[in-house]
Amino acid sequence: MNPPPEILPALDGLGCDWQRPASPCAIVIFGASGDLTGRKLLPALYDLFLNDGLPERFAVVGAARSALGDEAFRERARQGAREAGMDLGRWDDFAAGLFYQAVEYGEPASYAQLAGRLDRIDIERGLAPGCRLFNLAVPPVLYATVAQALGEAGLSRQNLAAGRWSRLVVEKPFGYDLDSARELGAVIAGSFDESQVFRIDHYMAKETVQNILVLRFANAIFEPLWNRNYIDYVRINASESLGVEHRAGYYEGAGVLRDMFQNHMMQLLALVAAEPPSRFTAERVRDKEAELFRCLRPFPAADLGEHLVLGQYAAGQAGGRKMAAYRAEPGVDPHSVIPTYAAMRLWVDNWRWQGVPFYLTSGKRLKRKVTRIDIQFKEVPHSLFRDSVGADLKANRLVIGIHPEEEIFIAFQAKQPGPRICLRTSGLHFNYSGPGDRPHLDAYAKSLADAMAGDQTLFWRQDGLELCWQFMQPVLAGCEVCADVPGQLHMYPAGSYGPDAALNMLPQGIWPEKPS
Ligand code: BG6
Repeated sequence: MNPPPEILPALDGLGCDWQRPASPCAIVIFGASGDLTGRKLLPALYDLFLNDGLPERFAVVGAARSALGDEAFRERARQGAREAGMDLGRWDDFAAGLFYQAVEYGEPASYAQLAGRLDRIDIERGLAPGCRLFNLAVPPVLYATVAQALGEAGLSRQNLAAGRWSRLVVEKPFGYDLDSARELGAVIAGSFDESQVFRIDHYMAKETVQNILVLRFANAIFEPLWNRNYIDYVRINASESLGVEHRAGYYEGAGVLRDMFQNHMMQLLALVAAEPPSRFTAERVRDKEAELFRCLRPFPAADLGEHLVLGQYAAGQAGGRKMAAYRAEPGVDPHSVIPTYAAMRLWVDNWRWQGVPFYLTSGKRLKRKVTRIDIQFKEVPHSLFRDSVGADLKANRLVIGIHPEEEIFIAFQAKQPGPRICLRTSGLHFNYSGPGDRPHLDAYAKSLADAMAGDQTLFWRQDGLELCWQFMQPVLAGCEVCADVPGQLHMYPAGSYGPDAALNMLPQGIWPEKPS
């Protein structure tokens, strides 16, 4: 049945195109010869260009140690876009705005040269003088060096009244633990004000993740139920079928807790559990996230095993293909105790959530890639159908699918057609992409566009980051010891649902299937 037009007017959703960033600016990418730049950043910028998401006049300046020229840089960028399967029809117009400047990251003279080049490019390309977005696509050990050098070269200075701005875009990991996150934060703060810093979390840039706030706060029917009185538990799952791939060097120092929990899982938790901000603005949204992180019950370090299951993938099979164990992956220590899977039960100590467990699960080399949030409601207080159905009624569940299904699903009980009272689980289903909708924005394109527009809503703020590290610290400290003890790190076959031990901790199986 089609909804009546007064409920779903034809104009809904119009006027939601890109807002072209106002000031013609230069985007400087440090680490321009690296993988991230070629695979993600340049294709994302070209995507923005194709969709009018870049300012009318712009420059993209690659900066790295290699001695490349502008033309060689343009050619590499073209290859990246071709490999990403992009339409190269307007490539030449885009490529005219690409430049390359060799830099030595620790060398002040390099930054003076860069500053001079940027001034010349401002004139050549007719940019608003001094509007710069510095993107750190370098290895994390260089973040502090580059941020500090930019400050010393005067490149972080801005004069907003005169329309000159300077912003820094940083990728995770933001530190390795609480101390290093604070140190990095302090170095960056020595050059850039917090309002100039854009710490990317690509999960926040996913359309369906942003939709969580809209679902909760643009509708009146969910929020009254969104609390301990009606919700039994919340599950946030991000499982991946991919293994560690070519990233052993990084992953061996990170593991699933630093790679997924300290950032993406915490962001999902914040969006599901935070209190409503009074406006959808960066500071108000991030204030509420920080408040939520402050309410996390400190993890019971002495009793870690009760609330945390860690795993690592062993050899296995998926789709008839043999898959190597984590310890046999190239670059991984054959005795590694780094967890590739974790299931965690945590509690939010505030009025709204007291007593409601939150289960967070994430792992690599699992059966399939699924990112999904389940809000499990409580059973009805009294079942008047008990005599007829002979069992308890199934409680309602709201499923927020992020990947691969981008959907919202509400499961409820309905009468099965027939002469007797028989119940069945039915549901209402909303698919995020309707026919005729524009394709989803790439998360990097969204992040870069927001950074150019100066909108920090979808980026980590330093206080939220430190609060999460503070929460994770005892877990990490405990795990670095416990993962070593036989029996604490649960092996699971690659291609499986994860370690059985996690099943015992989770409310009902790892993959509660969607009711049909
Ligand atoms: C990254 C992690 O931040 O997120 C990766 O470093 C992980 O290990 C990836 O694979 C998952 O992102 P997505 O968008 O594919 O769910």
